[in-house]
Amino acid sequence: MKQSIKEILASKPIGREVTICGWVRTFRNNQFIAVSDGSCIQTMQVVVDHEILDSTVLKRITTGAAIMATGTLLESQGKGQAVEVKVRTIEVVGDADPDKYPLQPKRHGMEFLREIAHLRIRTNTFGAVMRVRHTLAYAVHKFFNDRGFFYFHSPVITGSDAEGAGEMFRVTTLPLENVPKTPEGEVDVKQDFFGKTTNLTVSGQLEAELAALALSRVYTFGPTFRAENSNTSRHLAEFWMIEPEVAFFDLKDNMDLAEEMLQYVIRYTLEQCEEDILFLQDRQIQEEKSKPEAERSQMDLTTKLKFVIDNKFERLTYGEAIEILKNSTPNKKKKFQYLVEGWGADLQSEHERYLVEKHFKKPVILTNYPKEIKSFYMRLDDDGKTVSAMDILFPAIGEIIGGSQREERFDVLTQRMEEMDIPLDEMQWYLDTRRFGTCQHAGFGLGFERLVLFVTGMTNIRDVIPFPRTPGNAEF
Ligand code: 4AD
Ligand code: MG
Repeated sequence: MKQSIKEILASKPIGREVTICGWVRTFRNNQFIAVSDGSCIQTMQVVVDHEILDSTVLKRITTGAAIMATGTLLESQGKGQAVEVKVRTIEVVGDADPDKYPLQPKRHGMEFLREIAHLRIRTNTFGAVMRVRHTLAYAVHKFFNDRGFFYFHSPVITGSDAEGAGEMFRVTTLPLENVPKTPEGEVDVKQDFFGKTTNLTVSGQLEAELAALALSRVYTFGPTFRAENSNTSRHLAEFWMIEPEVAFFDLKDNMDLAEEMLQYVIRYTLEQCEEDILFLQDRQIQEEKSKPEAERSQMDLTTKLKFVIDNKFERLTYGEAIEILKNSTPNKKKKFQYLVEGWGADLQSEHERYLVEKHFKKPVILTNYPKEIKSFYMRLDDDGKTVSAMDILFPAIGEIIGGSQREERFDVLTQRMEEMDIPLDEMQWYLDTRRFGTCQHAGFGLGFERLVLFVTGMTNIRDVIPFPRTPGNAEF
């Protein structure tokens, strides 16, 4: 394998011959080529001698072109780089017509880059985001593997539409222009591929619960689909979710695991991706200069990440949060779009952000929500009013994790399902865990892109996934 720029910069074999394969970022003074191969944020300076190089070759060295350059690695005379390559041979492997190549060496707007998502990976910003994304994913696997968890693959196509986590995408091979009908006039799903209604999964949790009651500690990490029509900077129709599930775990164990995991993966990524994060930090500082003073973040990116890994998250109940919100200045001055009247209100992101950013000024874990606003599988508390739910709220993001201790008692669970109109007959496989060897267990779901959003300091979730799927957009 040829050495990457990252490897060459790490070992710096001065005086030796190296080959650089990558894409031209800039070409200055017909002499200095900045080449990127995506292995790290740095480019390699490749110095060409235009006396000896054919002018037809020189003309083809344009931004975006793929080149292979071989020469001697030398200590650089110029500022801005420690080493450079004095070229012996150079080959333009793939031209990029400068009149047509859409990426130029200047700052492009995020909206424009989304339209060319197939090329935006070649920019500094998206390179950094993708490397951070990879490192976070690796850290998640490492965290769980080191603690004896098994990576469990829950299905992407699901036959249950009762999870209640959101609107689902139907999966079908029935001809849309001529859907077979039953004598009663309904869609004849028996003729469909699976002989029943199927959808893309909104969560791997229910299957993870089955696995936890066999393997004790499991997690899923896979694509998740929600057909909600929410066009926000924090929602995707296709996103990745990490869902650990642990037998003999209660709500407190669950909170401890979630907090430890978030701090671990952020710390790991901060160590491994220091240069990318510093680049993203500068980018954020530049970006924020155009914002009014009050909207700028109080901390730079690294300070914010260190703050989260060095401080315990604030833990309080939903009821306590409601009291704080009810008596808060924005509520009294009617500044919230949704005023908090009292117990029972569903928290909006403006409320979550107030608690995290203004009141506690650190990540918050809210627990014991009213049962009416949470899912059927969450364990009913002794008061009969709340469930053992937990949401973790992060600055600038709002909800990053949602989880709970699960209802392990067969009778209570089936009663809750009836109350919430969950069809019991379709869920017999799930109820079997409560029939046979049921036990206390708990788990949570971490939205992976929301984590990447937090760690990169990007502002829109569409910019932390390679090819975002949102209402009206499934390009590439
Ligand atoms: O709170 P949610 O809906 O919880 C569940 O799906 C549970 N089954 C998790 C569990 O207990 N195993 O989703 C979990 C997290 C949210 O906190 C959020 O970070 C993320 O998934 N999420 C989204 N991320 C991007 N786009 C969306 N449309 C999202 N919906 C949820
Ligand atoms: Mg949630």
